[in-house]
Amino acid sequence: MKHEPLATPAAAPAPERGIEGPGQDPDHCGLEGTVYAPDAAALAGSRAHPLIAGTKVHLLTYGCQMNVYDSEMVAGLLGERGAGFVAEPEAADLLIVNTCSVRAHAEDRVYSRLGRIKFEKRRRPGFLVAVMGCMAQKEGERIAERFPYVDLIVGTRQLHRFPQLLERIREGAPTPLLAIDETPDVNFGETVARRETPFQAYLAVTRGCNKRCTFCVVPYTRGPEVSRPVEDVVAEARRLAADGVVELTLLGQTIDTYGYDLGANLWTLLRALHGVEGLKRIRFITSHPEECRDDLWRAMADLGGKVMPFIHMPAQSGSNAVLRRMARGYTRERYLDVVASARSLCPGIEIASDWIVGFSGESDADFERSLTLMETFRPQMSYIFKYSVREGTPAQRLPDDVPDEVKKERHRRMLELQERISLELNRERVGQVEEVLVEGPSKTDPARFTGRGRARRLVHFSGDAALAGKLVRVEVTGATGLSLLGERIE
Ligand code: SAH
Ligand code: F3S
Repeated sequence: MKHEPLATPAAAPAPERGIEGPGQDPDHCGLEGTVYAPDAAALAGSRAHPLIAGTKVHLLTYGCQMNVYDSEMVAGLLGERGAGFVAEPEAADLLIVNTCSVRAHAEDRVYSRLGRIKFEKRRRPGFLVAVMGCMAQKEGERIAERFPYVDLIVGTRQLHRFPQLLERIREGAPTPLLAIDETPDVNFGETVARRETPFQAYLAVTRGCNKRCTFCVVPYTRGPEVSRPVEDVVAEARRLAADGVVELTLLGQTIDTYGYDLGANLWTLLRALHGVEGLKRIRFITSHPEECRDDLWRAMADLGGKVMPFIHMPAQSGSNAVLRRMARGYTRERYLDVVASARSLCPGIEIASDWIVGFSGESDADFERSLTLMETFRPQMSYIFKYSVREGTPAQRLPDDVPDEVKKERHRRMLELQERISLELNRERVGQVEEVLVEGPSKTDPARFTGRGRARRLVHFSGDAALAGKLVRVEVTGATGLSLLGERIE
């Protein structure tokens, strides 16, 4: 099991989700308890609030990029009111746990953490504990019952009210205070959101999901899809760029459906963002194979100066029978057609995928179909997960009939295949030049620097601290399955 990392220094690279390596946990996706500890002095704003100013906050984030974004938003709102952030939970007056429900494992970790907090609560009167995000939304009442010493429970659609809820607790409101209403209006959050690096930002352009993949809990924790208007997104992007952001990653569960509720679409949004001065790189995640349109590939090719040639488009399975049971809305053949269109209309585009192994009824033959699909379109990288039944999802009614041992074995085989493909694809880059956005010193070798190429490949190279946030050109001299190695040429 991985340990929770300590506070990441401001210019450190984002935690690598990468390929889930054999040493990594196949149940786990995304961040495993990343501590958010921005610079307190920089946060103290003009709107300091007497009930919040001086509060020392330890903010722990589990889950996906949307959760990171939500944490940044809440940190920004609290920081503006004068709260500070600490890397050690023991030093905090307020512990916030931002939670993920996507697999049982993610929830179990939070439950065990909340169990341990009981002693801390007894020992330190005045120490507050808040649970926010997907588990708060889905399990709020159960959390309040099982862990009555939790002070505040804030669901996915009430996060913008976090400071006011904290004020109410400080004024003596009864606890646990539960805020899990499903308001129809989604608050997207403003540039007040703090960021791990000053030059990279996430920006949620849709919230929620209208799909009903039978395995997935997201539609129930985050509600129906709502888009943020183009002008709003562009205004926000301008503010971020003025604040030093050069790389913007747009977030949405199925980002290709952006704007359907507004009469807009992703490619017009990309065109509008392309004009924002100061921005150098625009990315977006996550793509749904059934929703990608040729107009998008054309726009990506046209706007290649800033829109990076990379999509994260989960296939989930290569078996049509399994895809049907998952209600993914496409077949293996259709997925390959979408990949072919993307590659022909936007040359050089690279694809990352997600896969679930051991879904209900997945036979050996079904699993082999996943392997052959992977082998056919050769994704640059993949996240591979063992199926985990989620309460309240349609698939809960299907038998979880693939033994855990078999899930593990399939996970291992798929990972091995992806590692081989990644290594082969990375080796093809040797001798070529990558344009890299420098993130910071390498975690493993402080003499080296780390950044990402246009298609999100991790690149290690020689450099110096002044380069953080800059685009450099690196000649690739070596490759592993996870990264490229190179020398800076300018
Ligand atoms: N569209 C979303 C998907 C959210 S879940 C996005 O923005 O990424 C992320 C991935 O977790 C999914 O693509 C799927 O591969 C995996 N996943 C979701 N529910 C799961 C479950 N019940 N068991 C195992 N893996 C699951
Ligand atoms: Fe989940 Fe499927 Fe939406 S994986 S987030 S229901 S597209």
